[in-house]
Amino acid sequence: MMKVGLIGWRGMVGSVLVERMRAEDDFALFEPVFFSTSQAGAVAPEVGRPCPPVGDAHDLRSLTACDTLVSCQGGDYTQAMHPRLRAAGWRGHWIDAASTLRMQDDAVIILDPVNRPAIEAGIAGGRRDWIGGNCTVSLMLMAFGALFRAGLVEWLTSMTYQAASGAGAQHMRELLAQMGRLHGAAAALLANPASAILDIDRVAAAAFTDPALPVAQFGQPLAGSLLPWIDRDLGNGQSREEFKAGAEGNKILGTGAEPIPIDGLCVRIGAMRCHSQAVTMKLTRAVPLAGIETLLEQSHPWLRLVPNEREASLARLTPAAVTGRLDIAVGRIRQLAMGPEYLTAFTVGDQLLWGAAEPLRRMLRLLLDAR
Ligand code: HSE
Repeated sequence: MMKVGLIGWRGMVGSVLVERMRAEDDFALFEPVFFSTSQAGAVAPEVGRPCPPVGDAHDLRSLTACDTLVSCQGGDYTQAMHPRLRAAGWRGHWIDAASTLRMQDDAVIILDPVNRPAIEAGIAGGRRDWIGGNCTVSLMLMAFGALFRAGLVEWLTSMTYQAASGAGAQHMRELLAQMGRLHGAAAALLANPASAILDIDRVAAAAFTDPALPVAQFGQPLAGSLLPWIDRDLGNGQSREEFKAGAEGNKILGTGAEPIPIDGLCVRIGAMRCHSQAVTMKLTRAVPLAGIETLLEQSHPWLRLVPNEREASLARLTPAAVTGRLDIAVGRIRQLAMGPEYLTAFTVGDQLLWGAAEPLRRMLRLLLDAR
């Protein structure tokens, strides 16, 4: 039985991963060993089978005893431990949520509903580093990968509406705390139906600059506002998050030699864990909308096409409707006034599921199946 080490399972992505593995009965299929950077010796989490005590995530000997390691511990851990494991001669499979190794030539970015042939070729060809993609890129390709595969996309631009979870667990807490402060500032006025809306707005706006508003994580108010920059400034006008769309997107699609332009603006909004994206595509040729919808609907079992109608869009194409689900909702599909080759659409996906944990979980299943 494959011995699988799980590292970083207490963090947000790791917890979602373990939850999904439990739900799919994955733990019956391999011998799990839990590792921790801080809790070695503790009792392992309940996964429906006996597990040894939690191992030390820095102990090379215990790590290299595993056939496969799955890390949600973050980029610093990958940077520190992956080279040491390989230098020690470990030839096991490394499945990782962090971005550190993603663009390395011998690493495969895993998103099997989109690039399963590349993953299978990698397994057959002896690849051993399997890295989850950036959440925004993975969710965009889960939505529109079928159109790329059909050779229909000349270029794509995506304007994102990214949830707090993409920045981390503490950011989610801070978003809610900020919401609470804004509401608290206006609560007395809100309780009085006769109070003037401009007075309510004034106290809410004053809360943005109140030193009591928690901003340690985001650096600025996000509740009642938005933040039009995600990740580092690359110094060329582009954020690192925006850079990843083209770089990772083309790597996943296998179009790196002649990259399809994929670019846009990434914006943080006050959603909890669903990333939304409004895309504009220039198609290589005009295709009737029915043909586009058929291609999308047939792309994979999780795609949920939402009719481009008001009621359906408001009910089903929102972070509130999609949160906690594996659904990739796609809607608002229509040709733009610029011409029949210009297509717009909107998509929503749970950033912690298909954006992070699910491709890792499924990669492990593919490796188990290949044995
Ligand atoms: N970088 C993404 C974000 C999440 O900040 O939303 C992880 O891919």
